[in-house]
Amino acid sequence: MQKHALPEPHWPTADEAAKALLFQPIRLGPMQAATRTWVPAMVPWRATEEGLVTDHVVDWYGRFADGRPGVLVVEATGIRDVPSGPLLRVGHDRFVDGLRRVVDEVRRRSGGETRLLLQILDFLSIRRRPEREKFFARFLRVTERHVAAARERAGDAAAADEANVRAWLAAQDDATLREVLTRREFRDLAFGQREEVNDLHLEHVRALPEVLPGLFAAAARRAREAGFDGVELHYAHAYTMASFLSRTNERTDGYGGSPEARLRLPLEVYDAVRREVGRDWCVGARFLGDEVIDGGSRIDDAVGYGTAFAQRGFDFLSISKGGKFDDARQPHVGEAAYPYTGRSGHECMPTVRSDERGPFGRNVPLAAAIRSAVRAAGCATTVITAGGICEFAQAEAILQQGHADLVAAARQSLADPDWWLKMRRGRGGEVRRCLFTNYCEGLDQKHKEVTCQLWDRDFDTPDADSVPRSKDQKRRLLPPPWIS
Ligand SMILES: Cc1cc2nc3c(=O)[nH]c(=O)nc-3n(C[C@H](O)[C@H](O)[C@H](O)COP(=O)(O)O)c2cc1C
Ligand code: SF4
Repeated sequence: MQKHALPEPHWPTADEAAKALLFQPIRLGPMQAATRTWVPAMVPWRATEEGLVTDHVVDWYGRFADGRPGVLVVEATGIRDVPSGPLLRVGHDRFVDGLRRVVDEVRRRSGGETRLLLQILDFLSIRRRPEREKFFARFLRVTERHVAAARERAGDAAAADEANVRAWLAAQDDATLREVLTRREFRDLAFGQREEVNDLHLEHVRALPEVLPGLFAAAARRAREAGFDGVELHYAHAYTMASFLSRTNERTDGYGGSPEARLRLPLEVYDAVRREVGRDWCVGARFLGDEVIDGGSRIDDAVGYGTAFAQRGFDFLSISKGGKFDDARQPHVGEAAYPYTGRSGHECMPTVRSDERGPFGRNVPLAAAIRSAVRAAGCATTVITAGGICEFAQAEAILQQGHADLVAAARQSLADPDWWLKMRRGRGGEVRRCLFTNYCEGLDQKHKEVTCQLWDRDFDTPDADSVPRSKDQKRRLLPPPWIS
């Protein structure tokens, strides 16, 4: 690992910007974006506990709209009507009115220029890492294997009844437990219980192919009713649909195993969404160019998926990387595993502490490979790349070289949502540049309102008295206004 300096920026004059590919319009199926700039989904932890839009959510997306990106994607939003903490939800018609407020605000503040997508997702249950005593007293299902191990290693008394087996297990060290428990049981103890798409013994997991197309379709219909320009199906990172696409998907019900079977549900979900919303509304997906986990899908798989999606009619393919639970760091007791802590997590949100390739534009080759396969298959589907994009010449080169059709910047846009407009106005020198050290991601990990270290303590501003603050009053929740 080495620490990389930010790339020396080249900022355009207003004239140069007006001619740049970055600021030319582009079609994404039925949707026209005014520029080839994209703010990808970022969960800011501002919804209510019931998953409803708050004033803070409206302000947040309005603030990104000030910078007039071509496309703004609203955070991962749950398609089910089940409690999931302060994450946005769209699993019932009662969520539509709040989401419409976001749409109206973005239209107003971007002068109608920014196209708005809702990222819709499903996720399986994950529990916090349990206390050891509780795990053995309550959570572990005692099986013959445990009874036999207790008898063999400690005699008949230890195996006399379930309570004795639980007590014996609780007294063992990790080395013994690794031998006595199954891999999955040990993981449940060390990391917290986490459902997988392979858990066909669980009825609701078995039923995912029956229920998800309808849930995604209803969520997309609500997004359309709320006034969004389209949806981004969340087929990336640590969530259900990405797990179906993963090489680690070993389902034996026709939805796992071979590449065709892994693709089946993602295509069926798309078909159901398309049937619901029609052809005249934008539907695309975010998925992984590389899972970056042992035994996971790599770029060769992703090229196949991208081509199949394009041939089916997806309007765009937004390529991400990594962000899996499989290699996440062990959480503290009482906390849940966080999918951006391991190697795959670093690849998803690369920092300046990186290998020799550095964090900047690190994922571009994945998008480029998928785009060229999609083109070779005769499809014009737009491809979006993200990951360490933070500077004009870099973004423009990606487009000029045909590696992607739009460039996305999450953290640079969080550091300075006006940066797109500053570039267009020839005032790039005023861009507040992201440091790529992931303070924001640390807040996300703690489920705290996401802000940026470059502006969240800056109260020497005209809006200091009115700007919303974090619960402890120490941080401002919105970037300072740009006096343009
Ligand atoms: C705070 C935070 C929240 C994020 N939430 C989401 C999300 O809801 N959905 C998603 O697909 N990616 C999410 N991401 C990943 C970003 O969209 C993006 O892919 C990643 O940060 C790499 O791009 P960047 O280098 O431009 O930041 C999040 C990133 C951050 C920093
Ligand atoms: S907190 Fe750090 S990594 Fe996140 S947007 Fe701000 S400068 Fe970039």
